[in-house]
Amino acid sequence: MKDTSRIGILGLGAYVPERILTNLDLEKMIDTSDEWITTRTGIKQRHIASREEASSDLGVKAALEALKDADLGVEDIDGIVTATLSPDHIFPSTACIIQGKLGAVKAAAFDVGAGCSGFVYALTVALGLVETGFENVLVIGTEAISRFVNWQDRSTCVLFGDGAGAAIVGRVNKGGVLGFDLGSDGSGHGLLTVPVGGSREPVTVGNIDQNRHFLYMSGSEVFRFAVRILPKTSKKALEKANLNISDLDWMIPHQANTRIIDAAIDLLQLDKNKVIVNLERYGNTSAASIPIAWVEAVKDGKIKSGDKLLLVGFGAGLTWASMVLEY
Ligand code: ACO
Repeated sequence: MKDTSRIGILGLGAYVPERILTNLDLEKMIDTSDEWITTRTGIKQRHIASREEASSDLGVKAALEALKDADLGVEDIDGIVTATLSPDHIFPSTACIIQGKLGAVKAAAFDVGAGCSGFVYALTVALGLVETGFENVLVIGTEAISRFVNWQDRSTCVLFGDGAGAAIVGRVNKGGVLGFDLGSDGSGHGLLTVPVGGSREPVTVGNIDQNRHFLYMSGSEVFRFAVRILPKTSKKALEKANLNISDLDWMIPHQANTRIIDAAIDLLQLDKNKVIVNLERYGNTSAASIPIAWVEAVKDGKIKSGDKLLLVGFGAGLTWASMVLEY
């Protein structure tokens, strides 16, 4: 792989909507229990976007935080790459809506569709852009996924939450991205999908009656895929970075389920104390989960400048993505 070690993170930001939905709230809505959700997933609560908030609104707030952290203005941004599986519209891209709201007049803007792996995919796209002449690329993972959840389907509605995270990618003096791995297996595209609303199956009254415009997931198959792929892609990124698992200061996995994370770190033989887990308070925020966890760990004083990090995601597509970097 080409040496990209001098391209890295200039700033980070995150935003979650105010409203919190707890497991106890869900007990009043559907046939579930705090005990089931906690033991099967690790989740205790999630944030839910208000009626006025779409993915772009959450993304703008995270982006402004990242700009502040990087000490940059909107005029300094020349690229915006947004990862989301809950866009404001099928088209135009959510990135363009964010560009307009920010007034980032110099920025090219487009979305990356890679499910929950989207943030890491988008970071690699930004890396390529900076390598080929862009200066400061804003990468955003943002989700108002609650809009696509069927609140009567207890097997999925307990899992997800809304939120956004952002990073500015540019040239750095030390550290930066050391290696990454991306992959996909489209034979699993039906395992996690919103079946209706695209060109395959346009919206009709009939398919709305069947709730096919909501998120569908084959949970156990996605679970098995995640446990298998997390260690595999992590090892590939480490290999490309020429590092061992013991060289890592922190791993930030996609926050879907504590059982998936525990199984993966067992297989990787990684010290549990080096793994950032915050899903008990946010649920699965899809493409936003890694940057939200990252920002929180920096604010908590866990992750420090110079630390070696492994970011690793998996999700709809099916897709996977991992990146090793020095923060
Ligand atoms: N409350 C109570 N009972 C429930 C609930 C609930 N919320 N949901 C399901 N159940 C029941 C089921 O009906 C089933 O009952 P049965 O045995 O009588 O049929 C039982 O619990 C077990 O159901 P399973 O689906 O086998 O439960 P499992 O242990 O596999 O856990 C889960 C389900 C949590 C969804 C798990 O499969 C999982 O985490 N999968 C991966 C999810 C994931 O990470 N997805 C995101 C990928 S990333 C992205 O791109 C969005």
